[in-house]
Amino acid sequence: MTNWIGNAVGIAPFITVDHSAFDSGWKPPGRNFTATGLVYNMNTLDKFKDLDKKALLASVGNELWQSIKIGTVLGDPEKLCPFVLLTFADLKKYHFYYWFAFPALKFPEKPTSYSEPPTSLRQKLSETELSSLLSAYDAFQSTQEKFSALFVVKQHGEKYMFDSFANLDQTLKSTEKVIVGICDPSSAMGYPGWPVRNLITLLAYRFNGCLKSVTVLCVRDRTQDGVRDFGNSQIFTVEIPEQEVSALEVTPECVGWEKNERQKMGPRMVNLSSCMDPTRLAESAVDLNLKLMRWRLLPDLQLEKIACTKCLVLGSGTLGCNVARLLMGWGMRHITMVDNSKVSYSNPVRQSLFAFEHCLEGGQPKAQAAAASLKMIFPGMKSEGISLSIPMPGHTITDSMLQQTKTDVGRLEELIDTHDAVFLLMDTRESRWLPTLIAASKRKIVINAALGFDTFLVLRHGIKSGHVVPKDSSDKMGHISGSQLGCYFCNDVVAPGNSTRDRTLDQQCTVTRPGLSMVASALAVELLVSVLQHPQGAEAPADTSAKDDHFVMDSDCSLGIVPHQIRGFLSRFHQILPSSQAFSMCTACCPLVLDKYETEGFDFLLRAFNEAGYLEEITGLAAMQDATVDAEVWDLSDDEDLSSVDMETA
Ligand SMILES: *[C@@H]1O[C@H](CO)[C@@H](O)[C@H](O)[C@H]1NC(C)=O
Ligand SMILES: *[C@@H]1O[C@H](CO)[C@@H](O)[C@H](O)[C@H]1NC(C)=O
Ligand SMILES: [Zn+2]
Repeated sequence: MTNWIGNAVGIAPFITVDHSAFDSGWKPPGRNFTATGLVYNMNTLDKFKDLDKKALLASVGNELWQSIKIGTVLGDPEKLCPFVLLTFADLKKYHFYYWFAFPALKFPEKPTSYSEPPTSLRQKLSETELSSLLSAYDAFQSTQEKFSALFVVKQHGEKYMFDSFANLDQTLKSTEKVIVGICDPSSAMGYPGWPVRNLITLLAYRFNGCLKSVTVLCVRDRTQDGVRDFGNSQIFTVEIPEQEVSALEVTPECVGWEKNERQKMGPRMVNLSSCMDPTRLAESAVDLNLKLMRWRLLPDLQLEKIACTKCLVLGSGTLGCNVARLLMGWGMRHITMVDNSKVSYSNPVRQSLFAFEHCLEGGQPKAQAAAASLKMIFPGMKSEGISLSIPMPGHTITDSMLQQTKTDVGRLEELIDTHDAVFLLMDTRESRWLPTLIAASKRKIVINAALGFDTFLVLRHGIKSGHVVPKDSSDKMGHISGSQLGCYFCNDVVAPGNSTRDRTLDQQCTVTRPGLSMVASALAVELLVSVLQHPQGAEAPADTSAKDDHFVMDSDCSLGIVPHQIRGFLSRFHQILPSSQAFSMCTACCPLVLDKYETEGFDFLLRAFNEAGYLEEITGLAAMQDATVDAEVWDLSDDEDLSSVDMETA
C-alpha cells in the first residue's frame, strides 16, 4: 500500500490500494512510502452498512496505542500511518463501495499549540540551505533499505544530518536541536497530514515531562511541472504539554473515517457498470454503430425518435422474425411479438429467430420464443411474447368462445394502445381486419406486409385525422397526404371472410420464394423508419407523380421519399410504388365503420365476425359488388407449411 507523496500543491494527497497491496514482497516506487492497513470486505451491502465503524476504528486505535506504549513503532515507524478500508462489491451491478479511515489518536486530549506555526522551507531557508538539506535527505534515503517515511534530523550550523527513526531516543538525548522528520501526505499549506498527529502522540507519550516542545519537518517532496520542489515542505515547532500519569493509562479516542465527495460521513461508490457490464457494453457498441451512420452520412438522423418507438409485431412467422431483427438493427428496444401458433420443424430455416430446439416437444409458442431470441441476441431488448388469437370476420364466434374472444379483443386493443407502430404480418387476410380497424381508430402507424409466391406488398396505412370522408385531395404536386392514404382493405371490394373456405389445400398454404420475406421485411422496416424521420411523420404525403419521377424528386426527409405502397415482383426483380386514397366504403377504415366500432364496441365487432355480408351491407359494398366482379383481390400469405396452416385453422 502506498501513499503517494509526489503530487503537486493543491492536489489532495492520495493513497493507492490495489491488488499488489497483497504481495508481501512489494516495493513502492521511488519517493512513496508504504502504509499498512486492514481491508474489510463485506459480503452484502447490509453488512457493510451495519458494521460498527466506531468500534472498528477504536480497536485499530487501541492497537496503535499499544504499539506506541510498548515502543514497537520505533522499529517500524510506518505503523504511525495506518489505514482501514471497508469495501463491498456488488458484482451484479458493478457498484463498488469503499470507505477509508485514517486513524489518528486524540492525544494529548487538549490541542497542542504551535510555538512556531507551519512555515514552508522556501520561506525559512536560503537557496543554499535548502539544497544542502535536500542532498542530505537524498543521501539518507539512498542508504535505507526502503524509502523511510519517518526519520530524525540533526542540525549543526548550516549542516543537516538525517538518521533512522529507530535512533530517536538516543538522538533526542544527545543533541541540542532535534528535528523529527516525516513524509507528509498533506498538500495544504499550514496543515500537516494525519500521520503527523500520531507522531505527536508518540512523542508526547514517550517523552512525557522531558520534552517540552519539538520541531517537526513535514517533507513534501513534490514534482511540479516536471521540476522537483522540496521548498513546499513545512516546518513547525509544537508545545508538548506534560500529561498526568493517569492520562497515560487511558486509551485515547481514535478518529479518522473519511468524508465522502458530498462532505458527508459515508462511503464512496464507484459505478463501473458502464465499462464492465456486458449488457451495457453491448448497448453502447450497438448505439455507436448507429451514431456512426449519423456522424458520417446523415447528420439529420433522429436516432432517439427511432429508438423510443414501441413496435407491436403481429405475426411471428418469417416476416415477423425478420422485421423484429431489423427493428433491432435500427436501435429499437421495445418490441412486442404476437402469435398464436407454435414453432414447427419447418420454421427455423426461414424464420430467423428460431432454432431446432424451439421445435422440440411440440414446439414452443412462437411469440415467446421470438421474444426470448431477441433478448438472447441483445440483452438490452425489452421484448415480450404474447400468445393471442386475433378474432376474424367470417370465423364464427360460438357462445362458448364469447368470453375468450372478448378478452382477446380487449388485449389487442390494449396492446395497440401501448405501442406506437403496428406491423401486420399475419398469414391470412382476415386476421388483419381487426388490428387495422383498432389502429385506425387509435391513430397508430400501421405497416403491412404480405407475400405471394414471388410477389409482395408492403404498405403503410393512412393515419386518420378526424373522421372526414376522404375526397380527392391529391394535389397538383402529385401527393396524397398521409391522412388520406388507404389501408390494406381499401382496394378490396369484398369484406374479409374465412379465406380457407372454398380453397384447396395447396391454395391454403401459399408457398413463397425464400428471399421474398427478407426483401419485404426489410422494406417494411425501412418504410417505418422513413415515416418516423419525415418531418410530418405518419402524415408524410405519398408521391403520386408520374412513373419514375420519384427518382429525381426532392424529398423532405433525410432518408428520401416515403411511399404509400411498395409492390414487388421477384420474377422480374421489379418494384413499383403505387399510392392510393382511402376508400369511402372500406370495411376496415371508413368513417362509418370507425364510428360504429367506437360507439358500439364489441357488439359491433361480434356481428362483423359472425354475420357474413354484414360489413359489405353497412358500408354499401354489397350494392356495388356486381359492378366490380373482376376486381383484383390479392391472396397473400406469410405461411409456407402445412403444419402451421393446420394449427391456424384447428
Ligand atoms: C450506474 O450506472 C448505470 C449506467 O451508467 C446507471 O444506469 C445506474 O443507475 C448507476 N447506478 C447508480 C447506483 O447510480
Ligand atoms: C373456414 O372454412 C374452412 C373450410 O370450409 C372450415 O373448415 C373452417 O371451419 C372455417 N373456419 C371458421 C372459423 O369458420
Ligand atoms: Zn381502408
